[in-house]
Amino acid sequence: MKRLLRDGRHRLALASVTSVLVAAGVALIAPGLAQAADTLGAAAAQSGRYFGTAIAGGRLNDGAYTTIAAREFNMVTAENEMKPDATEPNQNQFNFSAGDQIYNWATSHGMKVRGHTLAWHGQQPGWMQQLSGSALRSAMINHINGVMGHYKGKLTAWDVVNEAYNEDGSRRQSNLQGTGNDWIEVAFRTARAADPSVRLCYNDYNIENWNYAKTQAVYNMVKDFKSRGVPIDCVGFQTHFTGGSSLPSTFQQTLSSFAALGVDVALTEVDVTNASTTQYAGLTQACMNVSRCIGITVWGVRDSDSWRSSENPLLFAGGGNKKPACTSVLNALNAATPTPTGPTPTGSTSTSPTPTPPGGANEIRGTQSGRCIDVPNASQNNGTRVQLYDCNRQSNQQ
Ligand code: XIL
Repeated sequence: MKRLLRDGRHRLALASVTSVLVAAGVALIAPGLAQAADTLGAAAAQSGRYFGTAIAGGRLNDGAYTTIAAREFNMVTAENEMKPDATEPNQNQFNFSAGDQIYNWATSHGMKVRGHTLAWHGQQPGWMQQLSGSALRSAMINHINGVMGHYKGKLTAWDVVNEAYNEDGSRRQSNLQGTGNDWIEVAFRTARAADPSVRLCYNDYNIENWNYAKTQAVYNMVKDFKSRGVPIDCVGFQTHFTGGSSLPSTFQQTLSSFAALGVDVALTEVDVTNASTTQYAGLTQACMNVSRCIGITVWGVRDSDSWRSSENPLLFAGGGNKKPACTSVLNALNAATPTPTGPTPTGSTSTSPTPTPPGGANEIRGTQSGRCIDVPNASQNNGTRVQLYDCNRQSNQQ
């Protein structure tokens, strides 16, 4: 993608040709895009996926940090700046300055943004921590409406609910849980009404191993939501791998099992103790092998930026160099076949039971580029030049 974005003239020329070809019903061919890419975002885009990072607003004035981030990634999650304590520090007084700073930086560099997070037991403002019962339920709904209203139409996904389960598969006994067992579905229904254009995700850690009670509990929740029409579009697997919970051999099975329920899956906060090359390669491969695994986000840029910095868990060293784990991720991304545009052929070795490629039903996707026709700013003006862009399911690609 970066290659395309860097050369605006070529992009426009390609877009013009593309629109003619589309109008003529000709399959799209983008020569050269299938070659090995040397940045994470470009490598992931070859199969229609993204590669993101958490961005900390306080580091945006660090040139070495922003240089790597702008070069390597095409999706951004605010590490802390869109959490409840940041966005609603006093009840019903919203503050989006820190979140907007990250949003503006990301979009000015051609990146998409995931929202993180709306309803969570962690990082609640003090006033929210004091609430319970119906007052907290109302405050949660008001918070979702306030934050999602501000970012309406701007984000690619929201982590609506974060970390609602215990390791044994029971519900975490948070103040939110105390408002009633239906708090999660109320959060999702509120979110859908607040911004129908954004993908709604449940996000959690230690749900990567299929043979784990917490994974099964979240799976059953999503299955139940799907069967009852509770709106949910995606599940985020945080993928914080530590010595005690490293890459499980069942990760791909977990991803494909969730995908089979009719949700997208994504790896949302990846970091791995000492950046094990085999674990990074394995987790990337697990995503590449599941067509509805739409992208991977690492939880920071350099080791020195990580919330687990003593474990050196990221893809770039403190000095900015690519680590061996980065090369292993790039290799796995580059080896992925371009995303198919139709049903998986009979006899395919695809391990995903869901043949639907990532992307909306009405999108127009290049057979070779894996990218979508995108109408800038959803313009409806005659003569608008369309462009090739990462498929993101926004309405301006349908
Ligand atoms: C972490 C941030 O990285 C830290 O800076 C902050 O002090 C605590 O939160 N799961 C999540 C993330 O969903 O929001 C957390 O981020 C890491 C664990």
